[in-house]
Amino acid sequence: MTSDLELRSCAKKVIFELVSSKSRSKRKSKIMADQSSSPQPFNVQIDGVWHQFPKGMRVIEACERVGVFVPRYCYHKKLSSPGNCRMCLIEMGFPRLGPDRKPELGQDGKPIINWMPRPQISCAQDVADGMAVRTDSPLVKECQRGVMEFLLINHPLDCPICDQAGECRLQEFSVDYGSSQSRFLENKVKKPKAVQLGPRVTLDDERCILCSRCIRFCQEIAHDDVLGFVDRGSHTILTAHPGRSLENNYSLNTVDICPVGALTSTDFRFKMRVWFLKETKSICASCATGCNTVIGTREDVVYRQTPRENDHVNSCWMCDYGRLNYKYLEADSRLLEPQIRSEGKLVPADWPTAVGQAALQLKQVAGSEIAIVASGRMTNEELWLTAQLVNSLGVKCVDIVPRRGRADKILLSKDRNPNTNGARLILGSRSAPGAKIMAIADAVRSGGIKALVILKENAMHLGMSVEELARLPALIVMNNLHNAATERASVVLPACGFAEKRGSMVNGKGRLQRLNRATRPPGNARDDWEILRDLLQAIGGGDSLHSIEDVFRRMSETVPQFAGLSLNKIGDLGVHILEIEELPPTHPSDEEAIEQAIAVQAARRSVRHELDHVQPHPGASTIRQVEPETAPRR
Ligand code: SF4
Ligand code: SF4
Ligand code: FES
Repeated sequence: MTSDLELRSCAKKVIFELVSSKSRSKRKSKIMADQSSSPQPFNVQIDGVWHQFPKGMRVIEACERVGVFVPRYCYHKKLSSPGNCRMCLIEMGFPRLGPDRKPELGQDGKPIINWMPRPQISCAQDVADGMAVRTDSPLVKECQRGVMEFLLINHPLDCPICDQAGECRLQEFSVDYGSSQSRFLENKVKKPKAVQLGPRVTLDDERCILCSRCIRFCQEIAHDDVLGFVDRGSHTILTAHPGRSLENNYSLNTVDICPVGALTSTDFRFKMRVWFLKETKSICASCATGCNTVIGTREDVVYRQTPRENDHVNSCWMCDYGRLNYKYLEADSRLLEPQIRSEGKLVPADWPTAVGQAALQLKQVAGSEIAIVASGRMTNEELWLTAQLVNSLGVKCVDIVPRRGRADKILLSKDRNPNTNGARLILGSRSAPGAKIMAIADAVRSGGIKALVILKENAMHLGMSVEELARLPALIVMNNLHNAATERASVVLPACGFAEKRGSMVNGKGRLQRLNRATRPPGNARDDWEILRDLLQAIGGGDSLHSIEDVFRRMSETVPQFAGLSLNKIGDLGVHILEIEELPPTHPSDEEAIEQAIAVQAARRSVRHELDHVQPHPGASTIRQVEPETAPRR
């Protein structure tokens, strides 16, 4: 039997859906009709000054454009406007018209405005020609005080222990627009606290001001209609629909847009006060989309990543998978010291010794007997230095490892390498990424390759067993984390994670973006470009590269797509350098090549298995679908 509660919640859901979708489509067609009929901007008076705005712009946005801030809770520029918090109330009016239907002018020569008797919300109202707006009149201020008092009636006194303190709109607006005293003497309504709304989001219902941003985000952006309000009046609470939980891959964006501390990140809550965080603008390096981010750190520890607005890339959002993929920076398996093999064992060494040893081992074999496996997670600068290494040593076999996962139609890309396009441009490979990996593995097995350089990849994912790697005279590994392959290496070079270095990457749509250093690397790990530069110098090259800017400058002289650019010129929002319709690794022909290669290798393995009657080593299986080191739950 369906309970009353469920029926009520379903009915509310349907009504909300109908109203919001109707208002969205009405608004869209109105803007389109307005735009097609006349491109003339509207004259709008804001706080006594006339401005011009395009048709279809919301009043709250028009005010913001001219530097007049109107407080808001439920309004978000990327979501529909239900107008339910009333915080954005303003006074609105239109010029008084005379008998000739022309605006009447006052003694100051300006139109006389007929003000509406009641305040209006500015977030759901479009600008109109001749409209006048007052945002700081006594009536508006009284309205703002009233709304704040109403919102705070049942709000708990949680501020000292609330995770949102420091970035809470309720706190800020209470100071700016509220009163200093409360007239409320009754008992506050008690509501559920610390509710697990989903695996990554915790809800405190008492703090919720019912703005519905989170509900609209799930409906309109994440396409997962999972949240809603139930019950009435002061007892209304936010909840997930029966049998559902907030577990979509974009759930943490609701925490970002919740204006109060009702929704908090289970990962971040109570770990660090936000005012202690150092914020660094960077990009996510977990897929080819390259969402723009802000990395929050304190004392060289990453505490959180939040999205940074870039309408060319990720709008205001990022996925949970990329957002939480930073834990490996603090993993126990981080490589902290350079190591060299001595008398069969890996022993710590200083940097000059380790780099010198690697150069010596590489110089002892012919270029045709060296293979370099680079990574689509390396920056352009690192890839360019790799290309110089390839040229200096006369290496024929060089490739990157494809890294794939399931894409969604929102942000997450199938290509989980952030810089496949950079690798294509700089390494100049015409074949699909990963096309040569199997040939390299076969050559290692047959003894054709005597020196293998693995850069920022796990050699155990290349289809070679530990024993096969151990037979190599030279196995030089540059990476962040320890794995079975690093134990077999002849030289280990500990490098930086994405938050510990600077550089640039080209995303799946051809946008060149900047990665910035938010923390220092742990132990004796070094910046990847410096390791490669030193290796290049030890082999005989790489002179006059003293900074990463020097590397970019030299790269821009040789790679035409980077011509005229510098790290500085890329800016915070990136620069479009390639016209790409389709992300290269998702191109059907690439997919086919990779799938065919995987099938061939699987067939070869099963034949060998039958002949040998032995269980093959799991590491020698196929080119696997490789996920980043610590993929969070999705
Ligand atoms: S939880 Fe936050 S975003 Fe959701 S309705 Fe409440 S206040 Fe708004
Ligand atoms: S969509 Fe890709 S780039 Fe964006 S946050 Fe997710 S993993 Fe990172
Ligand atoms: S911001 Fe306008 S009603 Fe909420």
